Amino acid sequence: MGGSLHKQLRAIWHRAVMLLQSSLEPVTPRKILVTGGAGYIGSHTVRLLLRQGHDVTVVDNLSKGYRHNVPAGRLHEIDLSDTAALTRLMKAKQCDAVIHFAAFIAVGESMREPARYFTNNVAGSLSLLDAMVQAGVKHIVFSSTAAVYGNPHTSPILETFPIQAVNPYGESKVMVETLLGWFDQIHRLTSVCLRYFNASGADPEAALGEEHEPETHLIPLALRAVQTGKPITIFGGDYTTPDGTCIRDYIHVNDLAQAHILAVEYLLNGGPSDQFNVGTGAGSSVLEMIRAVEEVTGKKVPYVVGPRREGDPPSLVANSQKLRDRLGWSPQYADLRTIVAHAWKFAEKQK
Ligand code: UFG
Repeated sequence: MGGSLHKQLRAIWHRAVMLLQSSLEPVTPRKILVTGGAGYIGSHTVRLLLRQGHDVTVVDNLSKGYRHNVPAGRLHEIDLSDTAALTRLMKAKQCDAVIHFAAFIAVGESMREPARYFTNNVAGSLSLLDAMVQAGVKHIVFSSTAAVYGNPHTSPILETFPIQAVNPYGESKVMVETLLGWFDQIHRLTSVCLRYFNASGADPEAALGEEHEPETHLIPLALRAVQTGKPITIFGGDYTTPDGTCIRDYIHVNDLAQAHILAVEYLLNGGPSDQFNVGTGAGSSVLEMIRAVEEVTGKKVPYVVGPRREGDPPSLVANSQKLRDRLGWSPQYADLRTIVAHAWKFAEKQK
């Protein structure tokens, strides 16, 4: 009880210091190592970090990411399992902090190949943490997920909800959150776990966007249906939601990226380890999303309603008040049409 009050007071103190600093000082350039910086969310974060004057080193094995997503001279093709190479790089670059994205992300695939998910996501993270300890890097922002909550009974979801992943992907993130707790206790390595809801949209200038292979996400698939005329399948129209389709909290990738940068600053200013949801707090159904795509593109989205997809909770909406209160975050692109418009601009550019 005393410990938790002490933790809360420390967090309030650090927030006050951060607010004061942000109003008085220009941004201090930081040396940040970004794993998975060639992927979707990683590359947007790298772009924003560079724009804000930070020095960025990217580590990616290019198993999912793309070389073209990383500005020249910043990419180091290293696998997370190579602890020695990571240690050497962090020492050479004198990194202040790590932002750790590199991971497999497909829920369905994780149900078929759990070992690959645990090896890549958990063992890979452990190797990275080991390297951080050896290199003396003391802060990490970790890419976690709403999937750690499994199928919550109510929504919006708070960080205090039970952690009960329902697939190996979500469980791999829970395991890394657990590892981070031990590394803090034993090595004083502080961490922020950002539990993302549905990352979406693209760089407003369309320099970057979503390029998963295969693509499984709703917005790029709906845009592709507009481009090709081939219908998208809505996974289930019989959920206990107002229009029968699943509700998700779509968060613009740049708003997500900004949350990472604020989290790094928070840790470098001495903030204690913590976990935060990142979402807008507004839920949209699959049909609402299809309507938004139609409005933005000016074209009909061809679709069919199919059976439910295994493992899809009816509704996942974030309560992100903690992130707003403690880190001073607020989304700039919360409007669904803006998210879709940015994704559309990128999709059209790819044709
Ligand atoms: N959907 C369809 N048809 C499709 C694709 C998706 O109806 O062809 C529906 C899904 O059933 C779901 C919604 O659109 O209701 C969003 O689906 P996505 O596949 O775009 O995203 P998910 O909500 O399944 O998963 C995302 C991330 C996960 C993360 C999760 C956390 O991809 O990594 O959010 O909320 F764990």
